[in-house]
Amino acid sequence: MKPEKLLPIAEKARNMAYAPYSEFYVGAAIVDEQGNIHSGCNVENAAYPIGCCAEQSAVAQMILNGGKSIKQILIIGKPGNTCPPCGACRQIIAEHGDASTQIHLETADGQFSTQSIDELLPNAFHPSKL
Ligand code: THU
Repeated sequence: MKPEKLLPIAEKARNMAYAPYSEFYVGAAIVDEQGNIHSGCNVENAAYPIGCCAEQSAVAQMILNGGKSIKQILIIGKPGNTCPPCGACRQIIAEHGDASTQIHLETADGQFSTQSIDELLPNAFHPSKL
């Protein structure tokens, strides 16, 4: 699936973000191994550290809906800026993805850049290491 197709889904999710503290609104859209799409937004909390990232809530949706593996994920934040996943979200993508997982970011010029989880989190601590 082209990242362009995921963009309106991630935008719709970002519109639902609950981010009154940072006012930084994030949306994520996942394609799973069955071709199903799941989305998520960030959900902050007055107890700041327990806020949830968009990628994390999208993964929760995928699991809830029976998806097993992230094939693609698009992450969008502030328009005109890329929103690379935070360290914790890279770990979450590594847990629920594989070497072929495509991580798409919207670039400043409205294009998309695509990377693998190994590029974003080399030598990850992975279930296979347990
Ligand atoms: N955020 C995400 O949702 N995903 C990321 O990968 C980066 C950061 C959220 C967390 C917080 O609600 C806001 O963006 C500012 O850090």
